[in-house]
Amino acid sequence: MKALVLSGGKGTRLRPITHTSAKQLVPIANKPILFYGLEFIAQAGIKEVGIIVGDTKREIMNAAGDGSRFGLKITYIEQEAPLGLAHAVKIAENFINGDDFVMYLGDNLLRDGIISLVNEFNSTKPNAQIMLVKVDNPSAFGVAELKNGKVVRLVEKPKVPPSDLALAGVYIFDKNIFTAVNSIKPSGRGELEITDAIQYLVEKGMNVKPCIVAGWWKDTGKLEDLLEANRLVLETMEQKISGKVDDKSKIEGRVVLEKGSEVVNSIIRGPAIIGENTKVINSYIGPFSAIYFNCNIENSEIEHTIILENSKVANVARIEDSLIGQNVNIIKSGKKPQAYRIMVGDSSSIEL
Ligand code: DAU
Repeated sequence: MKALVLSGGKGTRLRPITHTSAKQLVPIANKPILFYGLEFIAQAGIKEVGIIVGDTKREIMNAAGDGSRFGLKITYIEQEAPLGLAHAVKIAENFINGDDFVMYLGDNLLRDGIISLVNEFNSTKPNAQIMLVKVDNPSAFGVAELKNGKVVRLVEKPKVPPSDLALAGVYIFDKNIFTAVNSIKPSGRGELEITDAIQYLVEKGMNVKPCIVAGWWKDTGKLEDLLEANRLVLETMEQKISGKVDDKSKIEGRVVLEKGSEVVNSIIRGPAIIGENTKVINSYIGPFSAIYFNCNIENSEIEHTIILENSKVANVARIEDSLIGQNVNIIKSGKKPQAYRIMVGDSSSIEL
């Protein structure tokens, strides 16, 4: 069995972060989302992975490399434009070369990995296996209708959903999916939809097996989902102090201090993670915060927030429920006249 990981696409819902970087590389608890997927694939015993890349190709390649650090062999497959999930399958046909394969959406995060899904597929050998999760807002997803435990219909982002069972971003296919992706037409949003390709298999009488996910699953396309995924992963971490803490500081609960980090005269209340070479000085870092590498937090309070690498926050009373990008400076300078002096990129959002 091989794996196909989809890391192309545009990530419009996470702008401005995704103006400059890939949404699949946004860190959750200080690890890029994509890496969780690659680790799950390796744990399931799969060795050969194709990664679909688009505009952010360079970044994805720099981050995941040849895959050896995950125990994988990665082949990059370029998609000329985000023409749909089924289009991504279409261009991977040579790479898959007749094998069964797991298709994994690079911006999805699962709690429990894919071992049991792969085992289930191998023991029952359906033509396709889909993962379903009960959600409150099915219209935002592909939705499945089941009858007596069998898939009877699949629709992509329906206005009137036939059920509350969303298609999660992990699928397993045999080679019949290639006939399907080569037969369907683009949808109303102009994409070749994998949901339509699976519907094609259903109509041809193929065995499409549903698996309901027990643990949590997150599509991290939006800020709230990202913060929630961060919360869920931080909840599972144990305390690990690999950085320096001075005796005026207090570390409370499940806090991870990565190598080279430094905490001076501050309180860190877990669950929280402070990245490599990040300094926290005269500050409070509250629960559900993940601060990535080479950041500097001084005289500030931060809670329930993700901060990306090389950013600096100084003299700010309090930041909550936020996502702060790479190389950002948020500094209260005390300069006269007192005013907000701001340079913010397109599609940013500031609540004061
Ligand atoms: O997250 C689950 C949902 O994912 C499913 O319920 C839907 O049925 C499925 O269509 C998909 O919907 P999204 O609209 O959320 O997909 P998105 O455009 O976010 O793309 C998912 C991943 O695939 C993301 O990592 C980007 C990548 N991608 C996307 C497209 C359209 C590609 O690599 N190439 C593409 O052409």
